[in-house]
Amino acid sequence: MELPFAESYKIKMVETIRRSTREEREEWIKDAHYNLFKLKSEQVFIDLLTDSGTGAMSDKQWSEMMLGDESYAGASSYFKLKDTISEILGFPYFLPTHQGRAAENVLFSALVKAGDIVPGNSHFDTTKGHIEFRKAKAVDCTIDEAFNTTVLHPFKGNINLDKLEDVLKSHPKEKIPFIVVTITCNSSGGQPVSMENLRGVKQIADKYGIMVVFDSARFAENAYFIKTREQGYAGKSIREIVAEMFSYADAMTMSSKKDAIVNMGGFIALRDKALFEKASVFNIMFEGYITYGGMSGRDMNALAQGLREGTEFDYLETRISQVAYLGNRLVDFGVPVQQPFGGHAIFVDAKRFLPHLPKEQFQAQTLAVELYLEGGVRGVEIGALLADRDPETRENRFPALELLRLTIPRRVYTNNHMDYVATALANVFERRNSIIKGLKITGEAPIMRHFTVDLARE
Ligand code: F0G
Repeated sequence: MELPFAESYKIKMVETIRRSTREEREEWIKDAHYNLFKLKSEQVFIDLLTDSGTGAMSDKQWSEMMLGDESYAGASSYFKLKDTISEILGFPYFLPTHQGRAAENVLFSALVKAGDIVPGNSHFDTTKGHIEFRKAKAVDCTIDEAFNTTVLHPFKGNINLDKLEDVLKSHPKEKIPFIVVTITCNSSGGQPVSMENLRGVKQIADKYGIMVVFDSARFAENAYFIKTREQGYAGKSIREIVAEMFSYADAMTMSSKKDAIVNMGGFIALRDKALFEKASVFNIMFEGYITYGGMSGRDMNALAQGLREGTEFDYLETRISQVAYLGNRLVDFGVPVQQPFGGHAIFVDAKRFLPHLPKEQFQAQTLAVELYLEGGVRGVEIGALLADRDPETRENRFPALELLRLTIPRRVYTNNHMDYVATALANVFERRNSIIKGLKITGEAPIMRHFTVDLARE
């Protein structure tokens, strides 16, 4: 018999989680103003809010924590991380930051000014936030297939190169500080970008003399998809694919909380010395001296080790197979999800799940609340709440997709947990026609409102 798939690790330490009753959850979600960010973690049984900083570090990473050098300047931990970044990602310069958005803040402070245009593939919300905060504009050039959850396309994170070239053609070069490519593309459903597309972006960028920056939070998952889906890459190692991917970037921002499997951390890596020096000034102002930039020595050590483990094939296969396991269970129950499945999450299509609710009643958030009530499972809305208001007109932006993201932390839950989640959502799906009222906003922040928004039942 062919041997079945099994995880490439075993469990050394466990953490107790507690189930709750529906009555308790009714109370808690009301107190949280129907915003799942406002729940206490003990009020959640299975937490699929994010895969960011929620992974389980390995024994080797914890060992590295003990070897951290906490010197203010010139710590050995800094050089360990610098060498690892140079070896795996191929960048000669790097700046540590406390997380991904801090890397954006530092790099964009050096590059983005009011009136600029930053084209890319469905910019992540913090990326867009940092662009719009500087009174610049993020222009989405993602391929159209990404916005139809039923279309099967192996690389739904791809940039439409014609759209991109149109943007570059129609604006002066000085107005476009860089193109940002998010790998994998979180906002379109954890969807990968093909090597061919990355190469194409770089060719067009070179033609117009514009920099390419990768938003790299899930670069290793992107490499896994290239290996398993793109012709010519099956025989290459993840590390070889990663090296080629980054050869098409001039700089990168990284949220290390994802594919580098640490609980906190980020960095910027670059090729250009002058830009490194310019960004260093902002790093020192916002994050810390350039050899720690918001990170402890021990955390830089764990991050260096995490970059190695996160780019191993066996680990990635375990990771992405678990996400697909949940996706397949949901498909079997008839639940509409973004396909093919993403790398870090299953994205449930709330417009197809609750078609009878108007978009003004926040379908994906309504579904997130229903799933929480059903089983104590916390997902996250990727829809109109996250899309926020247009900075100029202040009108609500209604994106093409209303998604409920079920984000799987790395090396944390078992497939029994995935079965539980799938069954809970299937139960909601069965009673979907009885969900006749959505939610309305009762209070919101001027930017990045989804974290703190207060809602009430319609
Ligand atoms: N870029 C991408 C593609 C991301 O997914 C994130 C974070 C960031 C940048 C910002 O990094 O959180 O370290 O400051 N995504 C998390 C998520 C929050 O839940 O998807 P950060």
